[in-house]
Amino acid sequence: MGWTRLEKGTMSLPLKLIAGMAIIGTDIKQARKLLEQGFVIGIPTETVYGLAGNALNLAAVTRIFEVKNRPSFDPLIVHSSSLEKIGRFVREFPLAAKQLAEAFWPGPLTLLLPKTGEVPDLVTSGLDTVAVRIPSHPLSRQLLQELDFPLAAPSANPFGYISPTQALHVQAQLGDKIPYILDGGPSQVGIESTIAGFEGDEVIVYRLGGIAVEILEKVVGKVRVMAHSSSNPKAPGMLKSHYAPRKPVFIGGLTQLMQQFPPEQIGVLPFEKLFEGIPVSNQFILSPEGSTSVAAQQLFAGLRHLDGLPVSVIFAQLLPEKELGRAVNDRLRRAAATE
Ligand code: TXA
Ligand code: MG
Repeated sequence: MGWTRLEKGTMSLPLKLIAGMAIIGTDIKQARKLLEQGFVIGIPTETVYGLAGNALNLAAVTRIFEVKNRPSFDPLIVHSSSLEKIGRFVREFPLAAKQLAEAFWPGPLTLLLPKTGEVPDLVTSGLDTVAVRIPSHPLSRQLLQELDFPLAAPSANPFGYISPTQALHVQAQLGDKIPYILDGGPSQVGIESTIAGFEGDEVIVYRLGGIAVEILEKVVGKVRVMAHSSSNPKAPGMLKSHYAPRKPVFIGGLTQLMQQFPPEQIGVLPFEKLFEGIPVSNQFILSPEGSTSVAAQQLFAGLRHLDGLPVSVIFAQLLPEKELGRAVNDRLRRAAATE
């Protein structure tokens, strides 16, 4: 059981926490208290919900890996509320990193920077860089401001499954392993942060995410996108089979699928318009107005919804390869990947 430590005598906590299922609430004080005591909890961010713990507390960080069932070679992002606080953990801040931080923090951007000895190796899986981000969600910002340590937080889903964009998603999947989920409403961006690293003067995007490449390039010029490689990934979030629902996902060949399965067995995730020949109740339109940002916001809730329907397969329509469409397509391709 995830938080048996509670039963061993943290009497200051309300008794109801000992019931076995995470409480969903908006009490920042409660969240703070639990984090200070070394617990791991769900927190909202503008991208997706995070599974947060004190990044400087090895027991808390270990617990994050356990709760998520995440391999220890997959490093965590360190979240903080200010550049000043981050300074303790980062050895070097290249000019391009400063420009990006200034333009997009707080926000859905994670920077890979050389780390200081203050960051436990467990957090970075022994790498000499640390991933850092200042989230913009008001609740997580306030929480981080009040804490005197940073939060290590991966997305609050079991390893390999779809990221959560609502408190209820976290509760459904990890609720029996954590005491509390801070509810900040549905995540506004809906997909994870863009991850950028630096080599010499070059900016390299390792994960497409909430800030579109075109927008990054307005600030730092041309960037190199390495987010599509699947062999020997620098970030395991780059592994092909990731972000996957339990049902098989297909991103092409709806006609063939319809020859193999009756229409009521197919769930469909259209971008803007319903597909003919499939029951309307089996379809989740991402953005009727054709916005890639709205589609990103709806993506994981849509996949989750279809995964929960009595269908055998999910067909997802790729978005135009621009703006957040690239990041959405990246996730759909990984969800459809079989290796
Ligand atoms: O939007 C987000 O980034 C969310 C919210 C909660 O902040 N977090 C998130 O964390 O997506 P996670 O753990 O699900 O994905 C972080 C990715 C992983 O693929 C990890 O391998 C990569 O970041 N990463 C972390 N530290 C790294 C490092 N030092 N070098 C390379 N990749 C790193
Ligand atoms: Mg994740």
